[in-house]
Amino acid sequence: MFATALSQSRSKAALYEELLPLARALFEGERDALANSANLAALLYHSLPELNWAGFYWLRGSELVLGPFQGKPACVRIALGKGVCGTAAAKARTLIVPDVDAFAGHIACDSASRSELVVPVIRDGNVLGVLDLDSPRKERFTAEDAAALESVVRAFVEATDLG
Ligand code: SME
Repeated sequence: MFATALSQSRSKAALYEELLPLARALFEGERDALANSANLAALLYHSLPELNWAGFYWLRGSELVLGPFQGKPACVRIALGKGVCGTAAAKARTLIVPDVDAFAGHIACDSASRSELVVPVIRDGNVLGVLDLDSPRKERFTAEDAAALESVVRAFVEATDLG
């Protein structure tokens, strides 16, 4: 019901303007981390065009461990500092990778992925995990996507009981 409420043919700005309230509506009345992260992965995967994977990895000790996602089965554990996800988590900052083949150490879970956006999930200055989006198109993600997804992740962190 949520995904169909989004119009697919609008500009990125219009799409994200619709997406944020939909994400907030998903979390309303629910603070469970598994429920909210699973629903957010589904909302993003089914609302944003040109994605082949959308989901979470959670920091457990010095590793990221696979969380709720949509897409093909993925690598379960990623060491902190490794791959795009591990690098974004270690640096506590969003990474846009326009061409995964040009990113040294990229971990290929789905061979269809050509570009990637990873947003760290941060609460009170601590990295708890990452949101990872993959696209089959090179240069799919821009600074506009990064800023919008950071807002969505902030809304998720505010609305959810984490760790
Ligand atoms: N490509 C990621 C691994 C996770 S998958 O894309 C789902 C990385 O390099 O960290």
